[in-house]
Parts: sequence; structure tokens; C-alpha cells
Amino acid sequence: MRDLHGRELLRQEVEQVWSIDRSEVTDNVYRFENGDLVLRPEHHDLSGWPPGEADQYTPILLDCFDRGGWFHGLFDRSQVVAVVTLDSERIGKRSDQLQLKFLHVSRSYRKSGLGRRLFELAKATARERGAKQLYISATPSENTIDFYLRLGCVVAAEVDPHLFELEPEDIHLECHV
Ligand SMILES: CC(C)(COP(=O)(O)OP(=O)(O)OC[C@H]1O[C@@H](n2cnc3c(N)ncnc32)[C@H](O)[C@@H]1OP(=O)(O)O)[C@@H](O)C(=O)NCCC(=O)NCCS
Repeated sequence: MRDLHGRELLRQEVEQVWSIDRSEVTDNVYRFENGDLVLRPEHHDLSGWPPGEADQYTPILLDCFDRGGWFHGLFDRSQVVAVVTLDSERIGKRSDQLQLKFLHVSRSYRKSGLGRRLFELAKATARERGAKQLYISATPSENTIDFYLRLGCVVAAEVDPHLFELEPEDIHLECHV
């Protein structure tokens, strides 16, 4: 039986994000072509985090934590099963956006409302911090983008050049908070 509770992560718990089951099978991915989102057949069978992901991103996540980023986890007993992260740095031309930096739900916990719950919590936190929008550089897989569109995200009016350079294949989205 599941026993879920949510709370903010401690710094020493940040690395536990890599214990989330990232596996996913995708048959289609979105591309942004001529101003539109287009779904293209492309099969990916991800059996876990890509090699090197934890080594590359742990320091980035810890830097984010140290400058006041917000990390919220859902735990099933003591096991973290979903995490959402909001960066503290204002971005966008009007400096009124905060980046949703990380949102992952363990495979067997998906499709039961946890992603929505964490997304809504991130919106409320961004609002409390004075932001007007969330900015999301999202994995282009069909499941991910359909999730964000369902939650009211739209293609970003202005793509953040730095984030685009880091993840040119991502779909860049925004959402009013
Ligand atoms: C994307 C992800 C976070 C969604 O989390 P989730 O817990 O499965 O989503 P939820 O169950 O909360 O779904 C929320 C809403 O989106 C809808 N939704 C979810 N997946 C969907 C899909 N593939 N197509 C259409 N709608 C979808 C649900 O129906 C639900 O709508 P409702 O509340 O109106 O019924 C999760 O699938 C995941 O971690 N995927 C792998 C990692 C990833 O892609 N992270 C984002 C990186 S940018």
C-alpha cells in the first residue's frame, strides 16, 4: 500500500533524485517546425537515466539549491518517488519568469495525478516568489509535452537563448502562474 507525503528536500537529499525510475518508452517526439509543434515518429526506449546524467547534473542541481532554488519531493515511506524544482533566478525580458528546472515522477507512480500536484505546487511557489510565469525547457517526448499542454502550458513567446543553447532539442514552454 502506498503512503505518500510531500516535503521540501534537504541539501543532502538532492542526489536522491537519481533514484527516481526514469524509464520510459516513446514512439513519437515533438519538433518545433515553422512556428508549430509537429509530432514525428521516433522510437526511444529509455531504460533509466542516460549515462553521465547524474554526474553532469548533480553539481547544477546543488548550485540551484545553494542560490535558493526550491526542491519539493513526494515520498512513499522513505523512498523519493517524484521531485519538482524551481530555480530562484529570474529570467525573461521582463525578469518575471522562474524556470521549472526538474520534474520527474517514477514510472510506476505516473498517471495518478502526482505530476499535476507537483506542477500546481510549483506554480503557487513561483507566484509567492513574485513571478508571473513558469519557463520550461521540456523533453520533447509525446508524453511529456502532452502533459504540459494539458496543464495549460504554451510554446514560449520568447525562447531563453541560454537554455536553448543547453537543450536545442527541447520544446520551450511557458505557463502563467
Ligand atoms: C511528465 C510527467 C511528469 C507527468 O507526470 P504524471 O504524474 O504521470 O502526470 P499526471 O498523472 O499528474 O497527469 C496530469 C494531467 O496530464 C494528463 N496527462 C498525463 N500524461 C498525458 C499524456 N501522455 N497525454 C495526455 N495527457 C496526459 C493527465 O490526464 C492529467 O490530466 P487530468 O488531471 O486533467 O486528468 C511524468 O510522466 C514523468 O515523470 N515523465 C518522465 C520524465 C519527464 O518527462 N519529465 C519532464 C521533463 S521536462
